[in-house]
Amino acid sequence: MDSTIANIDARQADQADPLRAFRDRFELPDGVIYLDGNSLGALPKTVKQRVAKTIGDEWGEQLIRSWNTADWVHLPQRVGKKIARLIGAEDGTVVAADSTSINLFKVLSAALDLNGGRSKIISERDNFPTDLYIAEGVAKQIGKGHRLALASAPADIPGMLDNDVAVLMLTHVNYRNGYRHDMAALTKAAHDKGILVIWDLCHTAGAMPVDLTGANADFAIGCGYKYLNGGPGAPAFLYVNPRHQGGFRQPLSGWFGHRAPFDFDSSYAPSRSIEQYLCGTPPVLAMVAMDEAMALWDDVDMAALRAKSVALCDLFIQEVGAFAADFGLTLVTPLDAECRGSQVSYSCDNGYATMQALIARGVIGDFRAPDIIRFGMTPLYLSFAEVAQAAVILKDILATRAFDAPEYQVRGAVT
Ligand SMILES: Cc1ncc(COP(=O)(O)O)c(C=O)c1O
Repeated sequence: MDSTIANIDARQADQADPLRAFRDRFELPDGVIYLDGNSLGALPKTVKQRVAKTIGDEWGEQLIRSWNTADWVHLPQRVGKKIARLIGAEDGTVVAADSTSINLFKVLSAALDLNGGRSKIISERDNFPTDLYIAEGVAKQIGKGHRLALASAPADIPGMLDNDVAVLMLTHVNYRNGYRHDMAALTKAAHDKGILVIWDLCHTAGAMPVDLTGANADFAIGCGYKYLNGGPGAPAFLYVNPRHQGGFRQPLSGWFGHRAPFDFDSSYAPSRSIEQYLCGTPPVLAMVAMDEAMALWDDVDMAALRAKSVALCDLFIQEVGAFAADFGLTLVTPLDAECRGSQVSYSCDNGYATMQALIARGVIGDFRAPDIIRFGMTPLYLSFAEVAQAAVILKDILATRAFDAPEYQVRGAVT
């Protein structure tokens, strides 16, 4: 076993875990070891009651008055403020709105406008596809010869930062292998060349502390449904550094981004604040679920969260490492915790079927084509004993070739 992995005893680690009480604050079915909080976070118990109250009392009884009486109208700002604390952002720099893809469209358009004399967007071939698709779309729409250039490996990025690059657009933690970029170093390298930087925090927010202010990032985006536990299709968020606010227009100039939406002016006058990044009416039920899920974070010590995340990953790597080579599993996540997020991934020949066999045995992770099995480590509701047990079940499935069963070969629409 590589020396960068701590040697962990699961039982002792659970006894010493300062975060163990958080598990009771989530609904988790018996018999399930949930290693997919990096895709869809578990349900915080109070979200159920809060959404029921919103439907019953606020919508059912108060009807349209609730936009004011329950302050529905400011949910994007209120939720944004709670997310800001987790990502090292100042008050007034984050709003919750729309989806990650749409928010990327807004901030990328804005960044290209700010850096108008340049034509390249740099990203990574292995970035999450929606980020690349949005960048292609934005470049085409601008129609001034903008183009997307993709790094094949993280080490190639600094060498690609030349004077024609307008924007460096990266996902902080890679969705497939869990590799984590050095946000501060890359942001600085880009700024030294006059390049603006956008960080996708989908696999970072709620997984570990982040310091957007300290890194001097320009823009960030991320989703609410993974480590933030905001529910399926939860509102996403976006961050704009105060130095860029009010300096340009984002293209989705809907009425919620107007300076005074209820003046009903016939022409658009953008808000000078982060509210300019809103577009239309917020989805109140989803926002309320997100708002309630975020309340739980008031009690979380982010340093303890990160320490437990590292230890959970180390334990899984240690346990699976004892048999991985016997069954052709290859760890694709960095061993060094400084270079990874909060997931552990392996390439695996029968990856899809192996994951289906695991799910049938109650170990829920997921599969990313062509051959990656992913295990998300969520420190608020996972125990060390569960992570060790997941490794035991994985070994059994590989040793017995349980993955050969025909029912595990059938692909669902979502993998
Ligand atoms: C890095 C990253 N960006 C974006 C997305 C998805 O964007 P959206 O929320 O718009 O579906 C994901 C989804 O898993 C992701 O991992």
